[in-house]
Amino acid sequence: MTDDTGSIRRILVLGANGPSGRRVVQRALDRGLGVVALTRHPEAFPIRHDRLEVVGGDATDPATMDAAVSKADAVVSTIGVAYTWSPVDVYSAAARHALATMRRHGLRRIVVVTSMGAPKKVEEGGRFRRVMGQVFRSTFTRTLYDDMLRMEDMVSTSGLDWTIVRPPGLADEDGRGYAIQESFLDSPAMARGDLAACLLDLLDREDWYERTAYVATPGMRLELIPTIRKEMLKR
Ligand SMILES: NC(=O)c1ccc[n+]([C@@H]2O[C@H](COP(=O)([O-])OP(=O)(O)OC[C@H]3O[C@@H](n4cnc5c(N)ncnc54)[C@H](OP(=O)(O)O)[C@@H]3O)[C@@H](O)[C@H]2O)c1
Repeated sequence: MTDDTGSIRRILVLGANGPSGRRVVQRALDRGLGVVALTRHPEAFPIRHDRLEVVGGDATDPATMDAAVSKADAVVSTIGVAYTWSPVDVYSAAARHALATMRRHGLRRIVVVTSMGAPKKVEEGGRFRRVMGQVFRSTFTRTLYDDMLRMEDMVSTSGLDWTIVRPPGLADEDGRGYAIQESFLDSPAMARGDLAACLLDLLDREDWYERTAYVATPGMRLELIPTIRKEMLKR
């Protein structure tokens, strides 16, 4: 499904109906790519385009994933859930099915979003960041981040051309340019527009194959309490 030069022409977006996923879909279309958008709520998906196919279904269902992956030649995952005290398995279940199905259909490129907060030990950044990060990590983000790490583990041992992207808190803004580096990036926020641009840029960046990237919008700030409240209440 790639063209004669091996370029990616059609991507599958997991989590397409989320605030980041929608931006990835729109920007991919703007760049001339074809898009398969997977959502459990296709009727609520707001974007229509002749290069867009909206697939309804759950990413943790193998048959749904197979149908979606078979239509694409690369996968971008912005799948996510709200902060919760309950066990989370959506990241790892979706990744397990996506990776197995990619192998079956001969796809190589996958870019997944996790979080700057996912690593178990928050050892970098300023003192306030480290203390708050450790408090969150061991309380209401624990189950979610633990499952992100399970996904990271599966992706990074997949043998495919993977990139893991760890953003900080996300803001619903278009963006103003992003920073990306392999070591911890001490910036508290990223515009979802910048995240979308970064994920699409990464599709063609072989220098980022088999690497984990910290990304952020330099200089952007987020208000901590409203952001946490929003993340806990979003579904
Ligand atoms: N929000 C933040 O500040 C923040 C910070 C760091 C990292 N992240 C990560 O960045 C990514 C994007 O976050 P976001 O806040 O823009 O999006 P989000 O609100 O987490 O939404 C992601 C989408 O995933 C879809 N989804 C969830 N479970 C699914 C399932 N079983 N099958 C299919 N789709 C499913 C939902 O769409 P449907 O209900 O339509 O299926 C949802 O709209 C996520 O991975 C998130 O964990 C977020």
